[in-house]
Amino acid sequence: MPAQVVLGAQWGDEGKGKLVDQLAADADWVVRFQGGNNAGHTIVLGEQVLKLHQLPSGLTNPDCQCVLGSGMVVDPWVLAEELETWQESSGEAPLGKRLWISERAHVNLPFHRLYDGADEKIGTTGRGIGPTYRDKIERVGIRFCDLDSKRGDQTWLDESAARMSTQLAARGVEGTITSLELKESLDWVADNFGHAVAPTGLMLDLALRQGETVLLEGAQGCLLDIEHGTYPFVTSSVTSRANASHGAGIHPGHIEEVFGVVKAYTTRVGNGPFPSELFDDAGAHMGSVGHEFGTTTGRPRRCGWLDLVVLRHSNRLNGFTDISLTKLDVLGGLDELEIVVGYELDGVLISEMPSNMDDLARVTCRTETLSGFPAIPLSEWLELARKANADGAGFAALPTGAREYVEKVEAWLGIRIHSVGVGPDREATVYRA
Ligand code: GDP
Ligand code: IMO
Ligand code: MG
Repeated sequence: MPAQVVLGAQWGDEGKGKLVDQLAADADWVVRFQGGNNAGHTIVLGEQVLKLHQLPSGLTNPDCQCVLGSGMVVDPWVLAEELETWQESSGEAPLGKRLWISERAHVNLPFHRLYDGADEKIGTTGRGIGPTYRDKIERVGIRFCDLDSKRGDQTWLDESAARMSTQLAARGVEGTITSLELKESLDWVADNFGHAVAPTGLMLDLALRQGETVLLEGAQGCLLDIEHGTYPFVTSSVTSRANASHGAGIHPGHIEEVFGVVKAYTTRVGNGPFPSELFDDAGAHMGSVGHEFGTTTGRPRRCGWLDLVVLRHSNRLNGFTDISLTKLDVLGGLDELEIVVGYELDGVLISEMPSNMDDLARVTCRTETLSGFPAIPLSEWLELARKANADGAGFAALPTGAREYVEKVEAWLGIRIHSVGVGPDREATVYRA
């Protein structure tokens, strides 16, 4: 079986967790391939709400094997907490049984978090993600397969602790890292996670060759990509389809289906230009009805209209085979809906994302206006979705304005819309007929 990929098409928080949970019902493996616990993926199962930062969202399928792939940076302390929460709710301890950590994944240490905590420019999640990737690129990082050799090497411990302390001081962060502390950290990680460290690329390759289904779960979103996002207001990893296979340790030829997750409007947490951002009642509506607060940091998300310039950029890089349009219900109750179809920069119409952030900050949006549709309680949306899926009615079951919105987005983007989210619950999705 080929591999499937789920990717955020905007600035993150599009609803990837919900889609991965749904697709995982038919998957044998679910793999996170980049990022770390800067991600916050929400899954709503009736009354139960799961917020996963590091664990793959496919954990909800007890028959699924889960992998933290080689492209990830893993904070073992956060992982331990998340596993404890999982065990409390499910009774299961999956580590080393069906949850595997790539030998090549990098360890996010307390030092990295301390360093990241001093960020004031980007508005990072403060989880140490950038500093861990920086150490990886500088070739001084610690991979899970190197834990044993590093913790037994006193020269390496002394030099690394000194380097970390110097970097903290230069950043104006109080405190130092001693070689004893560093050794104790590595000992703790090796003792608690060593049995789950595995050659996950080989395992996935074998699984694919045996006809098993592999689902690759993206974190963040295309506009947060280190290379093609709104640099420097981005995360520190490659969030695209091209890195999905690489970060999992398999080749790109395995990937056939790529789901771009698109929120029916746009949100962004952290700093940086955001052309369609709204500061009016419509933006406030999206924020309050959509509960737009960061899953990881609790910060309010900035809200704006759906932006087709963003989505064209995202599709160019990822070649989406399908779109999962999420949170359409949130737009209910707005009289008119706007969609950004282009930008104007110094009086010139442009249809592609500028690379320069000063330019992006100066663009104005050209929009098309569509009619709105009434607000509907979540319980009614849920019923509508269940009935539409049972009858096979598909998008025809949506209220007129909502259906027209979906049809316009599909036509303007030229990508098939696979499903439409109408509430946070696992079942609150209307699938294409
Ligand atoms: P992710 O990071 O892409 O997995 O997204 P987050 O979990 O950070 O944020 C998405 C939020 O929207 C979560 O609170 C989800 O429960 C919620 N959500 C997902 N899909 C829908 C939807 O179709 N409608 C509504 N109202 N909420 C949704
Ligand atoms: P999910 O997977 C939304 C943002 C941060 C900040 C920038 C850099 O839940 O969609 P970092 O800590 O990664 O160095 O922060 O990226 N960011 C996210 N925004 N959703 C996310 O993940 C994000 N992960 C990082 O807010 O602007
Ligand atoms: Mg999120």
